[in-house]
Amino acid sequence: MGKFHIQIPLCSIVLLSFSFVHCINQDPIAVQDWFKGLDTMQEKVTKLHFYFHDIVSGNSPTAMRVAKPTGYTGLVNTLTGFGSVVMADDMLTSGPEPNSTVVGRAQGFYASASMEDIGFLMTMNFAFSDGDFNGSSLSLLGRNPVLHEYREMPIVGGSGVFRMARGIATAKTYKFNLLGDAVVEYNVMVVHY
Ligand SMILES: *[C@@H]1O[C@H](CO)[C@@H](O)[C@H](O)[C@H]1NC(C)=O
Ligand SMILES: *[C@@H]1O[C@H](CO)[C@@H](O)[C@H](O)[C@H]1NC(C)=O
Repeated sequence: MGKFHIQIPLCSIVLLSFSFVHCINQDPIAVQDWFKGLDTMQEKVTKLHFYFHDIVSGNSPTAMRVAKPTGYTGLVNTLTGFGSVVMADDMLTSGPEPNSTVVGRAQGFYASASMEDIGFLMTMNFAFSDGDFNGSSLSLLGRNPVLHEYREMPIVGGSGVFRMARGIATAKTYKFNLLGDAVVEYNVMVVHY
């Protein structure tokens, strides 16, 4: 089990271990049965902590611009990048160094959606590959004003052990360089079954 998460049980240990029995790649009947059991399941809170490596430069970038506005090159785009869309398959690791344990990938896109400051629309799936969360995912949809110290973004759902998840991700830039590469620290609190 990775060090990147801790469980905060809201219920008994029995229910906690039971709730990890349901898992991934289940057929539709198994999913239906899981929903039938919802009434008897207790919600719990899980905290995750990891680092997101957004690499846009060099020979093997994991994030690349796939769209930008055409036909308009006014001040708005120049200052805020408004209209640019970047698709990413970024590594998530337990520590800030790129060689620390990989716990998953952040797959999705971010797009410059603000004309007045630098503010991204984030549409990301965190696909976990470590420990109890291997094969499970969380979906993030939110606004990311990257120059702010803390950016709070909603977790709107999940799969596998994170079925019906909702929560809050807090992002903080750990380091960045002038080429645009960034390492971002994520703390995620989710409520799920
Ligand atoms: C990870 O990289 C750092 C330098 O960035 C190095 O000091 C450390 O030894 C590396 N760790 C492993 C396990 O390779
Ligand atoms: C995650 O699950 C996949 C598929 O079941 C497996 O191949 C892989 O070894 C697992 N990874 C870890 C770190 O447990």
